[in-house]
Amino acid sequence: MKRILTGDRTTGKLHLGHYVGSLKNRVALQEQYETFILLADIQALTTHFENPKLINSSIYDVAIDNLSVGLNPEKVTFIQQSLIPSIAELTVFYSMLTTVNSLRHNPTIKTEMKQYGFKDVTYGFLGYPVSQAADITFCSAQLVPVGDDQLPHLEQARKIVRRFNALYMDETSAIVEPEALLSEVPRLIGLDGNSKMGKSLGNAIYLSDDAEVVRDKVRKAVTDTNRISIADKGNPDNCVVSVYHKIFNSDQYDNICEMCKNAQIGCATCKNELTISINQLLSPIREKRCYFESNKALVKEIILEGSNRANLIGNETIARVKNAMHLSL
Ligand code: TRP
Repeated sequence: MKRILTGDRTTGKLHLGHYVGSLKNRVALQEQYETFILLADIQALTTHFENPKLINSSIYDVAIDNLSVGLNPEKVTFIQQSLIPSIAELTVFYSMLTTVNSLRHNPTIKTEMKQYGFKDVTYGFLGYPVSQAADITFCSAQLVPVGDDQLPHLEQARKIVRRFNALYMDETSAIVEPEALLSEVPRLIGLDGNSKMGKSLGNAIYLSDDAEVVRDKVRKAVTDTNRISIADKGNPDNCVVSVYHKIFNSDQYDNICEMCKNAQIGCATCKNELTISINQLLSPIREKRCYFESNKALVKEIILEGSNRANLIGNETIARVKNAMHLSL
């Protein structure tokens, strides 16, 4: 079985955008691959260093989000990034081979710097792609399931690995060069029509939202602004709710669009249908969440056990690397 590793920054709970874009896929992948899920608490510090308590509670939240959607703790290895010293050590070694300019030109870093309004940038933030290369390679992950925003990081990781191997390693000891397993799903737009559903944008439905909260959020979603009264014919192409029907209520999508175009269904009814579909999706997820929320000790155990297992692999990698780099006496 090939090994895959992917992860989430622990900066808050996960939402439907995460579900559609990655979590759903992970549930399928765990059957095919040895799956490692990284709870990236160190990477969370790059933007949230002033809020360590949020990062701590988010380690649980993100783990529970992953478990609730159906990742099986018997099969999947959950890893807390800060518990893995080999990641920190590899980060230092890799940093010698990474120029500041290559990080400054990384398109995702550029976009995020704008998004966070950084005038200057910390060494830690600018360098997180280096740390991410270590996340992936400490355990020799062959494939990395990611969305397209992460591709520049993966390219950077591959470059680092090639350079590192050429400098220090031979064929038998080489660091595994990871490949992206690109998720082709388009990004879920926000309920407010913003191009992205995001925590910081205040337009997200969380996997942990209860049925009434979902109803409330869907009720406020932006619809075709030209459709003022129920008698007006609507244009689903200009309506956020229709995008959501396509994803969460695909069986009814064509039907609902036709009715909207012919003014046979009003926006309130249409939103109600969507609410029902989303709540149907979330209902079993809520049940599992409830189980793990009331068994926090079990969640902790899953993370500690996974991290221990990961450390056995990481320590071997470091021994091999130090030997090749002539750092062992
Ligand atoms: N940067 C990723 C994100 O924001 C999270 C992440 C951290 C990650 N380490 C990783 C993803 C290693 C894949 C592999 O979503």
